[in-house]
Amino acid sequence: MVRSLLPLGVALFGAASVLAQNPPTCSLDKKCPEEAPCCSQYNQCGVGAFCLGGCDPRMSFSLDSCVPAPVCEDKVYKMNTLDNYKDISEYLGDPDTADWVGQGEPLLYDGNVLLTMPPKSVGTVLATTRYMWYGNVKAKLKTSRGAGVVTAFILFSDVKDEIDYEFVGVDLETAQTNYYFQGIPNCADSVAIQDDNSGNITDLSNTYDNFHEYEIQWTPDEIKWLVDGKVGRTKKRSETWNETSNQWAFPQTPSRVQISIWPGGAETNAEGTINWAGGKIDWNSDEIKNFGYYFATFSEVTVECYKTNSPPGTNKGVSYYYNNIAGTNDTVVDSNKPTVLKSLLGTGTDMDKGGDNSTDAAETSGVHNVPGGSSSPANVPGSGSNSGGSDSGSSGSSSSGSTQSCDTKSFSQNCGSSGTSGNSNDGVRGADRTLGASAFAVIIGIAGLLFL
Ligand SMILES: *[C@@H]1O[C@H](CO)[C@@H](O)[C@H](O)[C@H]1NC(C)=O
Ligand SMILES: *[C@@H]1O[C@H](CO)[C@@H](O)[C@H](O)[C@H]1NC(C)=O
Ligand SMILES: *[C@@H]1O[C@H](CO)[C@@H](O)[C@H](O)[C@H]1NC(C)=O
Ligand SMILES: *[C@@H]1O[C@H](CO)[C@@H](O)[C@H](O)[C@H]1NC(C)=O
Repeated sequence: MVRSLLPLGVALFGAASVLAQNPPTCSLDKKCPEEAPCCSQYNQCGVGAFCLGGCDPRMSFSLDSCVPAPVCEDKVYKMNTLDNYKDISEYLGDPDTADWVGQGEPLLYDGNVLLTMPPKSVGTVLATTRYMWYGNVKAKLKTSRGAGVVTAFILFSDVKDEIDYEFVGVDLETAQTNYYFQGIPNCADSVAIQDDNSGNITDLSNTYDNFHEYEIQWTPDEIKWLVDGKVGRTKKRSETWNETSNQWAFPQTPSRVQISIWPGGAETNAEGTINWAGGKIDWNSDEIKNFGYYFATFSEVTVECYKTNSPPGTNKGVSYYYNNIAGTNDTVVDSNKPTVLKSLLGTGTDMDKGGDNSTDAAETSGVHNVPGGSSSPANVPGSGSNSGGSDSGSSGSSSSGSTQSCDTKSFSQNCGSSGTSGNSNDGVRGADRTLGASAFAVIIGIAGLLFL
């Protein structure tokens, strides 16, 4: 059995009935239309944030629809502040304005960042604003726990190369590892052959109670996964030749670091995903009663860029872009192209759009600019809507309406609070929140893609 868990699907928490129109979906065979040219990480078309981190040039209207991606920078991301975090609805592509962009509810607690998943939500995802083209990345984290609750620390490229750590909340002694080339699972020729994209690192001391340091060392020749400095798994490029496609099925393109908590056990997910995640999520668990949400704890993320003078893997310029739809390492250009949009109406081919007063907002009515929905920028009517990542067969539409007392139009944080009221600890942790009115009704992309 081969299973791939890609953060592909998206769901808008409860708002689908209010905001009717879903963004068009995109795939290799179905590129985005000209008016919504950018294919997001979750395979939906739009402008603005759809054209920034995660934009897949192969599925977008044209190769240059996506905005070039900021190059790697060596950095220690201390997770003791949220000052360096922006909701994706507030980020225009300048990595000097934010280290992380995301959706959901990250909170500061006790000197760490908690990624939280309140009842019936789809959790929280953060991605670095800069990309790594090979290199080392490590995260000190404590996982979440509970059936159906998944914590992830991954590298994910715009063409869907992926290197993962994933933790399911019913097994607190195992780090599951995966890698994918362009999101293609290694199916081998027989179902009898075990999926070798995946591998487990076992016998860890309780991953919920203890910080461990999870590391990915990625070079053009191999991937190493290390826990607390000890190599737990190695995958060599030389083992990944695909004779059908005549290429290495090995991750090779600039990737963002993504950290997340998400509901693998959401009722609406595919059965295989729910089983993998350890069963359906219990929204009345002790964890929810005690804290008001499930959570994973991050204390530090460190990125060391790959050091080389010639491609692949350079970090000399300002940004990376792709010059060919193949999406392989030799099609990545380390360039000096700018990365910043003037507004969330912009795209890679019109980066200044909306920057002056000439743009009639009505013109973009119905065009989405924040994947997954989010608090919509005031100037874009109709944004922020969408629902389930219906493409990809995934069940990203994990959270189904549960906004009972909420005005689904407002996407306000209060909406979330009312949902979790009565939790004594919620207030304590909530007090540290620095995110003002970021969207509760937000979503993350998530998905269990199941291949049997
Ligand atoms: C090889 O590549 C083809 C085309 O992308 C893909 O369909 C197939 O599953 C791959 N084979 C293996 C063993 O990964
Ligand atoms: C990894 O461990 C999980 C249980 O935590 C198991 O379901 C899965 O099959 C294992 N994967 C591999 C590749 O051994
Ligand atoms: C980079 O791409 C070239 C051309 O497709 C290929 O020969 C080379 O093996 C690739 N290197 C890696 C690390 O994938
Ligand atoms: C845009 O409009 C605002 C207020 O209506 C005005 O202050 C500003 O000068 C205008 N900017 C441009 C570039 O026209």
